[in-house]
Amino acid sequence: MDALPKIRTLAVMTAGGDAPGMNPCIRAVVRTALHYEMKVLGVMGGFDGLIRGNFIPLGARDVGGILQRGGTILQTARSKTFLEPAAQQEALRQLNAAGVDALVVIGGGGSQRGALALHQRGVPVVGVPASIDNDIYGTDICIGVDTALNTIVDAIDKLRDTASSHNRAFLVETMGHESGYLALQAGIISGAELVLIPEIETSVEAVAQAIQDAYRRGKTHAIIVAAEGARPSVTELASQIDEMEVGFTMRVTILGHIQRGGKPSAFDRLLASRLGTKAVEFLHQGRSGVMVGLSGREVVAVDLAEVAARKRDLPLEYYQMAITLAR
Ligand code: F6P
Repeated sequence: MDALPKIRTLAVMTAGGDAPGMNPCIRAVVRTALHYEMKVLGVMGGFDGLIRGNFIPLGARDVGGILQRGGTILQTARSKTFLEPAAQQEALRQLNAAGVDALVVIGGGGSQRGALALHQRGVPVVGVPASIDNDIYGTDICIGVDTALNTIVDAIDKLRDTASSHNRAFLVETMGHESGYLALQAGIISGAELVLIPEIETSVEAVAQAIQDAYRRGKTHAIIVAAEGARPSVTELASQIDEMEVGFTMRVTILGHIQRGGKPSAFDRLLASRLGTKAVEFLHQGRSGVMVGLSGREVVAVDLAEVAARKRDLPLEYYQMAITLAR
């Protein structure tokens, strides 16, 4: 029987926006690779670092104590340069010069497309989905989503305290890029009156009506959760609704980058450990050009080409659920 081409040196990198759980994933990749007697290099600074050949050796102790840390010890960047073929060629040259046989790319949708570009140039690559937006095709959930949701819910619980004390309505903006996933889930679990998402059009009047309805039903506050991609924006809404008679006075809170920080939740640590381990196992078995993802309870492999070509659907039945549960 032919032996599989042995991976002697594996590189691991994080790219795009950071997500809580990237560190436990790096740890899992490094320690699984060491288990298979691979040497491991970390790429510092995402695809830009790869183009510059910014590698560091990673041993078991280098990834000790990072399981509970947010962010990424390998640092990350949003690289525009890597979209250029010449930059991809340079990355390939750097990988070859460093003797790298295979690569694990941990990151969001753009990073998976970067991984695909390298795979198409002949590099054995496996992608791992990590993005708080949960907008990547091929996985039920990405690393970082659970922690971000917990951060959002914690913030909204606090906002509700002050909203009730002052009889105010809060428009709370979550991240999510062009996806309403975070806002929709957060709206349900924080008892929002209404959720505003890019996937469903809403008017200023409808938002004003929802706030006024909450007031008439005797509520002491109203919370509207809006995804950053939803239109009109929270600031536009607040200034227009302020002029109307809705019962509550209006306030706006944009949660921003706090949603990307913080120690990864138990769920994210486990997901990151499972996906990171499986990524290396696939490469060890000679499998590449795929992203690892969670499907039900199983870790599966999805072709990177399919991940890049398809859009993840948002379960819109949750939208009606959010409204029904806000009565
Ligand atoms: O993709 C993750 C994300 O946090 C989005 O939700 C948001 O639109 C974007 O990144 C913010 O990017 P940056 O960190 O470059 O400001």
